[in-house]
Amino acid sequence: MGSKMIAFFALIAVAFVRASPPNFVLIFGDDLGYGDLGCFGHPSSLTPNLDRLAANGLRFTDFYVTSPVCSPSRAALLTGRYQTRSGIYPGVLYPSSIGGLPLNETTIAEVLKSKGYSTAMVGKWHLGVGANGAYLPTRQGFDNYLGIPYSHDQGSCQNLSCFPPDVKCFGRCDQGVVTVPLMLGDTIKQQPADFLKIEKSYGDFASQFIRVAAQNERPFFLYYPSHHTHYPQYAGEEYAGKSLRGPFGDALMEFDGTIGKILQTLMETDVINNTLVFFTSDNGPELMRRSRGGNSGLLKCGKGTTYEGGMREPAVAYWPGLIQPGVTHALSSSLDILPTFAKLAGASLPEVQLDGVEMTNILFNLGPSKRETMFYYPTDPSEKYSVFAVRWGKYKAHYYTRGATHSETTPDQDCSLFAFQKYHDPPLLFDLEADPSENYNLTGPDWDPVRTKITVLKEQFEATMVFGESEIGKGKDPTLEPCCTPECSPKPDCCRCNSEL
Ligand SMILES: *[C@@H]1O[C@H](CO)[C@@H](O)[C@H](O)[C@H]1NC(C)=O
Ligand SMILES: *[C@@H]1O[C@H](CO)[C@@H](O)[C@H](O)[C@H]1NC(C)=O
Ligand SMILES: *[C@@H]1O[C@H](CO)[C@@H](O)[C@H](O)[C@H]1NC(C)=O
Ligand SMILES: *[C@@H]1O[C@H](CO)[C@@H](O)[C@H](O)[C@H]1NC(C)=O
Repeated sequence: MGSKMIAFFALIAVAFVRASPPNFVLIFGDDLGYGDLGCFGHPSSLTPNLDRLAANGLRFTDFYVTSPVCSPSRAALLTGRYQTRSGIYPGVLYPSSIGGLPLNETTIAEVLKSKGYSTAMVGKWHLGVGANGAYLPTRQGFDNYLGIPYSHDQGSCQNLSCFPPDVKCFGRCDQGVVTVPLMLGDTIKQQPADFLKIEKSYGDFASQFIRVAAQNERPFFLYYPSHHTHYPQYAGEEYAGKSLRGPFGDALMEFDGTIGKILQTLMETDVINNTLVFFTSDNGPELMRRSRGGNSGLLKCGKGTTYEGGMREPAVAYWPGLIQPGVTHALSSSLDILPTFAKLAGASLPEVQLDGVEMTNILFNLGPSKRETMFYYPTDPSEKYSVFAVRWGKYKAHYYTRGATHSETTPDQDCSLFAFQKYHDPPLLFDLEADPSENYNLTGPDWDPVRTKITVLKEQFEATMVFGESEIGKGKDPTLEPCCTPECSPKPDCCRCNSEL
């Protein structure tokens, strides 16, 4: 297709958007790496629905999240701001955390609600529970919520079934806390959540939400962050033992199955041509789980590190008729989703310092990115050490490197916990186009100007960065752990219930 034709499509896109605001479906994987999907080269994963999205949509090769761990990455996705601004650091939130994503942060759901969108979330929140559910999704712009409000390993799991008929979950998960709750809105419906049936409930909930919104001719936003590919993996009857890739593959396949169900519902309700579906994941694979962890493909290390494997993710944008099938190498980020959805919905941006840039030129014209840089914060950002690495164009400079427990067990010694924090002066410099695996430091004086330029960009960025008070640093209070029978004893084991959804 010629560029005129593409420009024509872009015009239609804009006109179309004005006539009737598009729907958004945002799908988020968990500890899913760059190399985990069939459409990103994994030889034994079975992801037919994601592969279909990728074949008929736009596949991103250079898409980044803002943190190599969960909660901060989610905070940045939903606010379009680095987690350092909202205070979601260091590490992740716990069931008993006192803090959470501050309520004065504006989420994508809140941006879209200002334009009359109906909003729902199904799955993993991990941005706080708080006293009386003060930080739950329902307080951050989501009209409807079904899910486990944090990681599904943040509660003992050795007695729970992860695969049918009664295969116990692999490992023990976190001990000494309540088992994980399944919440509907602000109410605990099940504790512990039933991993064999949860995905069916998620799929039904998502489909029902789409049907109701379509029936009422309301534009909608569905956010579906899955738990599946995070440890411990699980899958129900329909997918257990069905993949070529063992428990991880089965869990991934069940996740993919729900994506298929969502697409099917979008078709049946005749809204598929007016819906942007966007897929990516929160951070790199947890390599320490060995074959039960994900895979970062040709990228170096994984979860917990600021190497590419920790923060570069598979991403796909799909909108039949408006986004042409293809591949983009444009530099882009989860930070850019909020500004993009806001632009397409005709909503105004929150009046705060945003770090995202809208990417409609990439989506509709296969054009260049407005994004020049990507900053890599470690799991424990601090003003003292600031960003560990910076990407500028095709170059990446590492000022600090460090391995991580999450990335243990690979033969590459740089990924290990015992690869202690190391300062690089001059910074290590890689050409990520020629050397995506970060193997070959660019040496010699020819590269001095690139190192200097990146250091200037880093300093300019740092000058705009105001660290919010650490929400995770506010500590824990065990009485905040969600319990469906709050008066029971002895805790945490007495918190049990199972009511109809
Ligand atoms: C939210 O409130 C806190 C505390 O008052 C403040 O420091 C922060 O800047 C506010 N954030 C936004 C996005 O307004
Ligand atoms: C798991 O089951 C064992 C054996 O029935 C029991 O002793 C233990 O208390 C259970 N643990 C939890 C966390 O439920
Ligand atoms: C969506 O558009 C395609 C053409 O681009 C058309 O074939 C299809 O029928 C449309 N689907 C719906 C549900 O409107
Ligand atoms: C990387 O290259 C720079 C520039 O030539 C050099 O000064 C530095 O020692 C190299 N670092 C390593 C770890 O090889």
